[in-house]
Amino acid sequence: MTFSPDARINLSRLLADIDRSAGIGIGREGGLSRLALSDADREMRDLFVGWCREAGLAVSIDEVGNIFGRRAGREDDLPPVLVGSHLDTQANGGRFDGILGVLGALEVVRTLNDLGHVTRRPIEIVNWTNEEGARFSPPMLASGCFAGAYPVDWAYERQADDGAVFGDELQRIAYRGSVPAGGRIPDAYLELHIEQGPVLDTEKVQVGVVTHAYRSHGFLVEFRGETAHTGPWPMEKRRNALLAAARLLVGVDDIGWEFAPSGGKATAARLVAWPNKAGILSDWSQAVCDVRHDDPAKADSMADKVLGMIEAAGRRAGCDARIMDRWTWGGSIFDNDLIGSIRAHAGALGYSHRDLPSQAGHDAYFLAGICPTAMIFTPCRDGITHNNAEFVAPEEIAPGANVLLHALVVRADR
Ligand code: GLV
Ligand code: MN
Ligand code: MN
Ligand code: MN
Repeated sequence: MTFSPDARINLSRLLADIDRSAGIGIGREGGLSRLALSDADREMRDLFVGWCREAGLAVSIDEVGNIFGRRAGREDDLPPVLVGSHLDTQANGGRFDGILGVLGALEVVRTLNDLGHVTRRPIEIVNWTNEEGARFSPPMLASGCFAGAYPVDWAYERQADDGAVFGDELQRIAYRGSVPAGGRIPDAYLELHIEQGPVLDTEKVQVGVVTHAYRSHGFLVEFRGETAHTGPWPMEKRRNALLAAARLLVGVDDIGWEFAPSGGKATAARLVAWPNKAGILSDWSQAVCDVRHDDPAKADSMADKVLGMIEAAGRRAGCDARIMDRWTWGGSIFDNDLIGSIRAHAGALGYSHRDLPSQAGHDAYFLAGICPTAMIFTPCRDGITHNNAEFVAPEEIAPGANVLLHALVVRADR
């Protein structure tokens, strides 16, 4: 079945869906706060599932809540081409981060329906659970389960700051499915995402061809100390867990500045302590931090420094330190044929394009471990993201989505 080079997605239909999604889970600053497995996440999932069914897709939910909408292929026993991203958002998230990749995939499938084009291989559009890691650690938890990197039972035990447990929350919002989360090897995976950086917007380039990913290391660290009165208790006897976490996070920032000249980034992302009150030393704290670099060796040495810092911060504050979670991703993980296909389609469709690395975390990184994978970036204004001001102009959405359409069809017809 030949596919017309003139085929284009229906931009106004896609924009209408993005608008509708942007009304679900509105947060404090007017952006989205659709944290994984919250009521807002459930509402968005229900809407998405309805849209998938309207598009004629067979919907299935796996054990960790990943949603798959399957469009049959001419040779339906062949492994499917997966295409998607995430519908959960940060606590002060934008309306495009992740969402564009899921709803863009749905629009691609609707376009194929309009054109009556049935691909050789089946296509499955997917919403991955808890990409952000904003509610449950680590990020990309459920794509990690799909790729066999995390055991499902381990994922079920992940706990949020509000005490909620991942497995129970899946059940509560009715998205703990029965399909095994692992053991399936797709033919390929494609993900459309906003750049989340300023390069494409600054250079006025329409399509980002993602060549590789910054190497990143993340840590969730717990410190245990002892409560005591902040007045009479001697300085030399104090075991303040809040202070241990604070020392670690300041140290991580120092690592960031040390590597900043070569483009390294380090982030003190989260600190919680108990009882976290005036007049009493905290006996428990948790800190989350991450380090990233385009040069894997430099990222690894940043991570080694963090390990030393965890030790030192605990010792200085008289506390016991324990690494609860550790995650790492990135490198030259994407498939050269798919990268070439994306580049070629961007050119053939007449769009300006450039190669660039990805700096944020994406579900695609886990998929890259089990099947040929690639990503397409659209610009986003000033690179602003994880912020309610995140914005992608309509005319900046169409090029990336059209490249996705054509790259997907070529792969699925292969
Ligand atoms: C997750 O998306 C991250 O980049 O931390
Ligand atoms: Mn994202
Ligand atoms: Mn994000
Ligand atoms: Mn992300």
